[in-house]
Amino acid sequence: MPHKPFKAVIPAAGLGTRFLPATKAMPKEMLPVVDKPAIQYVVEEATGAGIQDVLIIIGRNKNNIANHFDSMPELEAKLREKGDDDKLAKVEHSSDLADIHMVRQGEPKGLGHAVLRARSHVGDHPFAVLLGDDLIDERDPLLTKMMEEYDKRGGATVIALMEVDPAHIHLYGVAAVEATDEEDVVKVTQLVEKPKAEDAPSNLAIIGRYVLGPDVFDILERTQPGKGGEIQLTDALEELATGGGDGGGVYGVVFRGRRYDTGDRVDYIKAIVQLAADRDDLGPALRPWFKEFAQGL
Ligand code: G1P
Repeated sequence: MPHKPFKAVIPAAGLGTRFLPATKAMPKEMLPVVDKPAIQYVVEEATGAGIQDVLIIIGRNKNNIANHFDSMPELEAKLREKGDDDKLAKVEHSSDLADIHMVRQGEPKGLGHAVLRARSHVGDHPFAVLLGDDLIDERDPLLTKMMEEYDKRGGATVIALMEVDPAHIHLYGVAAVEATDEEDVVKVTQLVEKPKAEDAPSNLAIIGRYVLGPDVFDILERTQPGKGGEIQLTDALEELATGGGDGGGVYGVVFRGRRYDTGDRVDYIKAIVQLAADRDDLGPALRPWFKEFAQGL
């Protein structure tokens, strides 16, 4: 029987302390990447993969996110009056994008806990979890490939993996893997949340994309706090990878496309520079200046 349509879950309840004071009264997901808030890229990635139903797990300062995806009748009327169709389209786009829902995380107790908050909304649908700190270039459709693998492998869990420099491996969930008959699709045999470089089972890090079946919720309910005293999604998936069960195991899609990390300040600035340089409206003015600037360094 075909399964129900995929939903998307976007955790957005982190404190964003690395970006203070910008994130004092505004969630980090609303920080602009060029001229769009980071979270809009993530919602667009979900809708680009054909997902219409998006649940955002919110923390404090949630109103900014809710307002961004809501219509703004006064602003729209002003722009319409002025005949500024371009800007009007941009404003309307974010409220027409998807069927957006919100739920509060309450006390932030980790990514696993945030995902568990999605349980009643997700119900018995399969779903994608998209973390806002990782932006995936829309020209490299990772999520679509992951959803195809979910179907192909009979509803198995699918995570996105990327080779990272061993010096950074301690910042990620890390997978031990075996090859499959498909290039860049691996079977995950073990998962460890943020190991020390010397304990990491490989250089394959989980980047923030997961395609999960609703069975993960039962596991999350009983997952005990792990690394950092938080309920870790990685620990729940480790159980699926090693538990044998009927869950179908865990597979990884090894991503070799363009990913922009907006989680810390240096990477965030790099993401803006890369994305702006690539844009048709901004790139031509920026690229010569970047060269000139770099020569002066
Ligand atoms: C989370 C996950 C981690 C994953 C990472 C990807 O960590 O716990 O397994 O590798 O996202 O960005 P965070 O970066 O939220 O600390």
